[in-house]
Amino acid sequence: MRGFVPGGLVAEVLDRTDIVALIGEHVRLVKKGQRYVGLCPFHQERTPSFTVSPEKQFFYCFGCGTGGDALKFLILREQLTFREALQKLADRAGVKLPEARLDPAALQRQREVEEASRINELAARFFTAQLREAGGEPARQYLEKRGITPEIASKFGLGFAPPSRGSLLQFLQRQGLSSEEALRYGLAVRCENGEVVERFRGRLIFPISDARGRVRGFGGRALNDTAQPKYLNSPEAPFFNKRELLYALFQARDAIRAAGFAVIVEGYLDAITAHQFGFCNVVASLGTSLTREQGRLLLRYAGTAVIAYDSDAAGAAATLRGLDLLQELGFRVRVVSIPRGKDPDEFLRTAGREAWERAVAGAVPFLEYKGLFLAEKKGIGTAAEKMAVLQALVPNLALLPTVVEREEGIQAVSRLTGLNWEIVRGELDRFLEKGQKSWLNTCKTAKNKHVRLKDARRKAEAGVLKFLLERPDFLPRVEAAGGSELFSDLQHRRVYAVLREVTARGGLHPPSLFAQLDEEDKGIVATLLAEQSLEGTEALLTELIGFIRRRARRERKQELLLDLKAAEEAGDREKVQQILSALKTLISDGKEGC
Ligand code: UTP
Ligand code: MN
Repeated sequence: MRGFVPGGLVAEVLDRTDIVALIGEHVRLVKKGQRYVGLCPFHQERTPSFTVSPEKQFFYCFGCGTGGDALKFLILREQLTFREALQKLADRAGVKLPEARLDPAALQRQREVEEASRINELAARFFTAQLREAGGEPARQYLEKRGITPEIASKFGLGFAPPSRGSLLQFLQRQGLSSEEALRYGLAVRCENGEVVERFRGRLIFPISDARGRVRGFGGRALNDTAQPKYLNSPEAPFFNKRELLYALFQARDAIRAAGFAVIVEGYLDAITAHQFGFCNVVASLGTSLTREQGRLLLRYAGTAVIAYDSDAAGAAATLRGLDLLQELGFRVRVVSIPRGKDPDEFLRTAGREAWERAVAGAVPFLEYKGLFLAEKKGIGTAAEKMAVLQALVPNLALLPTVVEREEGIQAVSRLTGLNWEIVRGELDRFLEKGQKSWLNTCKTAKNKHVRLKDARRKAEAGVLKFLLERPDFLPRVEAAGGSELFSDLQHRRVYAVLREVTARGGLHPPSLFAQLDEEDKGIVATLLAEQSLEGTEALLTELIGFIRRRARRERKQELLLDLKAAEEAGDREKVQQILSALKTLISDGKEGC
């Protein structure tokens, strides 16, 4: 969506925004020197580590690392899209944005969502009112039987669809809506005889909202266990796509952020009961296995997902695929074991809060969970079975984000399969080699060394960026030394490109810089801006550049040496010659200094 608004306009809007006043509406800020500080709204803290700089027009939290410009703040805080946040700031600043040149399909979709939620919200009001009416007695009794308090019912907007035909339709008609519209938004169905009647009748109603609390559809539960289906849901529609929604996310999102993890359960009632027991970081997956879209949505709030499914569903192949997918998206995934035959709702009600807390704290890493499951299902007696389990787990091992977690993972797989550490490690390396075609993973020591080297180099690269943020007049010097070639980290490279462009267009000005950056890259710039000033001298810059160039040469040399070894082993004499001459050039370049 970014492409449809000229960068200059974004900069103008940011320029006219008083970031302190804006953030001040959400956070109590106190002036401290050049900055304002307060309690971070993005994580829980007692001592303020959240800072706002009016001069540089950005915010940054030293506690959780969240940072960016005024747009980023609104996007995170109010769950707005980039365009919505921009519109909001433009309105405040009195800047007129050109009519969004959204592609017509996206615009249409947006209108559809707005219209659908407007009408669904009307219906939701009707259902909640019905729950309080005399006719709502059976539903109130049902809630009581299930132990759901009126407070929690109201937090989730629970309602009642009366069994009689016509009442919702009449209500909607009084609001000026036709039965055609009720049909279009899934609130009514056409019977065989052509009559239009309410979809939900005699059911307890669960409104299903998006992350911003807009009602997109409903789930309706039968009040007795003989009626079929148990749950009737609004039909799939562009504005009610179950793959893109998570039940209770709106109610859970702040708690998820504060806890740093989300618990995912299966049922509406599992989520509701968890919230009632004070565990508010719980969402439900709407009855299907988890999708990539749901994962992405959740990733905006936390990087760890704890799965608490009924024990029978937890083993289904579809569940495992959903969890693989979460891990691929970058989640740390853990799985709670719930006693057989129970779901989280029953577990909480029978075993209590502490048992739940223990179960969540004791959730096993997905890798181990999957391994145990496969061992149980497919056997782990013979060598072939062991290898099959190992092969299935290697992709999950490869996805573990840190060296420590990988090491623990290798040990866990080794314990589980009874295969020794070297075999597991070897399989993992082979997988990485195949998957990433990288020489890095063929040689463990080279790789570890490489990681260390890379770290130092990345720091130096960040140092150059920081230097340029303070002293853009040194840009030509960096360009002459190699420019974007100096940056091995792709994010650094992107930031450098934007920095160069903004500086070239007449001086570095944080709002214009932020206006050009992706959301992802804003964080890193905010971090750099927030760090203590370098008071940069030319000597420091020369040193940073020299360091990077030496490291780059060393990396290249190692790469060539490994290629050389491979070429020698393969007996490829031509290749050996090529590599030797490349090495020679590299070494003589190095002697000339930088
Ligand atoms: P469950 O059968 O586990 O229901 O389905 P539940 O949430 O525990 O409900 P209670 O405790 O029996 O009242 C889990 C989820 O699967 C979807 C719903 O989202 C439900 O919450 N589902 C289930 C349907 O959509 N339709 C159905 O007929 C059944
Ligand atoms: Mn249940």
